[in-house]
Order: sequence, then C-alpha cells, then structure tokens
Amino acid sequence: MYSHSSTYYVVTCLATMALLLLSLGIRRHRRLNRPRGPKPWPIIGNLNLIGVHPHRSIHELSKKYGEIMQLKFGSQNVVVGSSVEMAKIFLKTQDLNFVCRPQTAAGKYTTYNNSDMMWAPYGAYWRQTRKMSQMVLFSTKRVESYEYIRVEERNSLLKSIFESVGKVIVLKDLLSTASFNVISRMVLGKRYLDESEDSIVSPDEFKKMLDELFLLNGVFNIGDFIPWIGFMDLQGYVRRMKALSKKFDPFLEHVLDEHNQRRMEEGEKFVATDMVDLLLQIADDPEHDVKIERDGVKAFTQDLLAGGTESSTIIIEWAICEMLKKPETFQKANEELDRVIGKNRWVQEKDMPNLPYIKAIAIEVMRLHPVAPLLSPRRAREDCKVAGYDISQGTRVLVSAWTIMRDPKLWDKPEEFCPERFIGKEIDIKGNDFKLLPFGAGRRMCPGYNLGLKAVEGTLANLLHGFTWTLPNTITRDNLNMEDVFGLSTPKKIPLLTVAQSRLPLDMYHL
Ligand code: HEM
Repeated sequence: MYSHSSTYYVVTCLATMALLLLSLGIRRHRRLNRPRGPKPWPIIGNLNLIGVHPHRSIHELSKKYGEIMQLKFGSQNVVVGSSVEMAKIFLKTQDLNFVCRPQTAAGKYTTYNNSDMMWAPYGAYWRQTRKMSQMVLFSTKRVESYEYIRVEERNSLLKSIFESVGKVIVLKDLLSTASFNVISRMVLGKRYLDESEDSIVSPDEFKKMLDELFLLNGVFNIGDFIPWIGFMDLQGYVRRMKALSKKFDPFLEHVLDEHNQRRMEEGEKFVATDMVDLLLQIADDPEHDVKIERDGVKAFTQDLLAGGTESSTIIIEWAICEMLKKPETFQKANEELDRVIGKNRWVQEKDMPNLPYIKAIAIEVMRLHPVAPLLSPRRAREDCKVAGYDISQGTRVLVSAWTIMRDPKLWDKPEEFCPERFIGKEIDIKGNDFKLLPFGAGRRMCPGYNLGLKAVEGTLANLLHGFTWTLPNTITRDNLNMEDVFGLSTPKKIPLLTVAQSRLPLDMYHL
C-alpha cells in the first residue's frame, strides 16, 4: 500500500513536471522571434530547397525572405545574412559570438580532426595558428621579403606560356603550378612538385587533390545536418574525404621528415628557414603555451598550401574568362600597360598603384566570382539577438557575400562585368567595406589576403602585358561556358581553354 501510493506520487510529480517543462518549452518557443524562412520538412528541414549551387539557391531564397533568414538543414538551424547591415552585425558588431566554425565531416577527415586554422574551433589553439601565420608568413615584411620568389615563379609561368604561343592551353594548370611553387617555397622552403624530383606525388595528381580538398570542404554533406543517417554516407562524400586524406598524408609526412632530418643533421647550428621548420620547433617546445602536435603541423601546412594555391588561380582564370567575353576590356588594359610600363619591361609589384584599371579588373572579378560566395560557415557560441530576432546557440551562420555583391540596390547592372565601376573610387576589400567582401571580414577573415592580392594582381598584370588572349576556334564568346562549382572555393566547372600570342619584343621572353 505504502509502495503503491509512493509510485503514484512519483508518477504524478513527473507528469506535472513534464507538463510544466512542456508548457515552459512551448512558451519559450512561442516567445522566440525567429527570422522568416521557408517552412521546414520533418527530418530534411529545407535541404530540398538547396540545389547543386547552394550559393544560388540561398541567393534566391534571400530575395524572398529578406536580409536575415532562418533555414533548417536537417536538424540544424541555419541563419543567413544577406545585406550590408547583417554582414556588419555577424562579422563586426557581434563577431566574437560568431567566430566559431561548425563541426563538419570535412574538418574531421580532411584536416586531422580540425587541427588546421580553417576548421579549428574558436579558442587558444586557433588564436595560436593565426598568430604564427601572421608572424612567419603574412606580415607585410614577410610578404615583401618573398617578392623574389614570386618574380622567379612568375617568370617560369610567362616562359611556359610563351613556349605554347599559338597552341590551345589549359590556363588553370599553368597558373596553379606557378601558385603552388610560390607558396611551397615560402611554406616548405622549396618546390616540392618538380617532375625531376623523386617526388611523392606528381604535379597533376596534386592539383586534383587540391580541387578535391576545396570541393569536399565546401559541400553540403547530409551527415553533417542529419547526424543519425551520417553512417550511411548517402552522397559518398565521407568516403572521398577519407581517401583524400590518405593521399595527402604521405606527402605531408615526407615534408615533415625531410625538415626534421635537416634539423637533426645540423644540430646546434640549425636555423629555421621556412614555415615548417618553425612549426616543428614550436611543436617540440614543451614550454610553449599551446601544444601543437605533429598532426597540427600537417593540417596547418596543408591549409596554407591549399589556400595559397587555389584562390589566386581561380580568380585569374575567371578574369581572363570575363575579359574574353568582353574584349574591349583587353584593349583598355593594354592601353594602360603600354602607357605606364612600356614594352620593354615586365610589371613589378611596386607598379600596381599606377595601374588602376588592372586593379579594378581584379576587384570586379572577385565581386562577380567570390572565392567563397557564402564566406566560411560560422556558429553562434551563445543565444543572442540580431536585428530583433532570436538566434540560438549552435546555429550555423552564413553570410551571403554573393547576394551582397550582386545587390541591385548597391551595384549598377550587378550581373555585368564592368571594371570601370571602380575607377576613381576609394575601394576597400580588406573587410572594412561590407558591400565588398572577397576576403570576408572580422576575426575569421582571410589571413592571406595580402599575399593573395599580390599574387592575383601581379600575375594578371603580367599575363595581360605579355600576351593577347583569344578563344580556340571551336569556342565562341557566346558559348563560352561560365558555370561554376560550389565548394570551399568556386572555380569554373569546365577549365578555360585559351590561346595566347606574344605582344612584347621577343627578347623580353628570355626569362
Ligand atoms: C585572392 C586570394 C584569396 C581569397 C579571395 C581568399 C578568400 C578567403 C575567404 C573569403 C575566407 C573566409 C573568410 C570568412 O569566413 O570571413 C578565407 C579564409 C582563409 N584563407 Fe583565404 N583567400 C585568399 C588567399 C589565401 C591565401 C594566400 C592563404 C594562405 C596561404 C589563405 C588562407 C586562408 C585560411 C587559412 C582561411 C581560414 C581562416 C580562419 O578560419 O581563421 N587564403 N579566405
């Protein structure tokens, strides 16, 4: 009897508590003022509305639901900001609350469990990676001190193009070899992909690996949003991530082994000469505040190699593509180059302030073809309010730079490639002007913008100075394919085929 009544009492209490919690939950739920958005389906949420080009799907949805919109990807809340005002809130005013990255399969499988800078959660480790990269790679002094490397590799690029004059070339291949050589000499101390070396991976294979890395780090992997079906890997992305990691790892191991060996051989006399040397020193230092393991060194190195190769390559490819569609831009560029540089020397980095049209081409291309149209995803660290709406902790936050940079309220004929729009204007692309965000903004802004910009402007200027560019006979301006592929970067789907002709005196090509 006693036991019966106590059970009754406990059940009654639990039921009352459940009702109370439920009603509180409902009330709390009711009180939450969420941004507008499409009604989610059970299980998939709004994933049915996201097509193969997520930036375009989100752009269309933003037009319908406004500058701040709430979506649901599987069970995950996603908020998208798509105006200057919203970008300013997410990336500046409340940046500290949105400085974290969501946890993804890509971070887990392709960057040694988020040990790199890109996917590292906010905290001491991530801060340390930013500090180190600033110190050893991205400071103005460092970037300038490596100009000789950029000049040497640019000369090799110009020479290879000259050797193929009149023939159809895949521009992207030549560009990415040049970019990779620059970054690998800065980060690893030497070229690692020379065919002649007993290299661990061929240049072609490595380029494919980089493309795959960028693609897989940007894809919408269903398992990230509906974790309980993650094990099925319905899109096959996780399988590809694991396979990719197996290809990168031996290359990175080889790089680290070589560096460690030199360190051992030189003993006391050893002086760190590149970034991997420095990272390994930090990793071995027991006194260092934040411990960086061998995996961290590999992940961080991979980040910089990838970031330094892919972005500038795809921007330059898009630039030549847009110009081929609008040939009068070549004439204007050539006129400026002939007037400022003349025909008897190549463009140097210090010439850039005197080449406003070339600079405007680079900016216009980054506006129309941002490397990261939704920037990189962020995550709310705490519940907060944005523009009067409630954003819950853990919400994934996207800033649609694509929408902002094509907003007809901000840009005249936004879909048109028109470098002239920037002539005579004060322009900031380094995260202070929220209508132009090719490098993002705030604490997670691209740390490599200085280097990236130099690579894009310097290479583009010399490609235009040294050569005229046309399409192969089989392709016309009108049927030139301009489709892109969405990933962590957004390259052309079909690499550009083009034909170069020299436009300077022949002795200029004896580089
Ligand atoms: C023109 C060239 C480049 C463009 C357009 C570009 C663009 C971007 C963008 C849009 C982001 C995301 C920023 C955000 O979410 O707010 C980013 C992040 C990043 N970029 Fe770049 N990037 C370029 C060059 C580079 C270079 C040269 C490197 C390295 C050598 C690099 C390494 C990184 C890294 C590591 C991150 C992640 C930073 C973090 O999460 O803390 N990028 N980049």
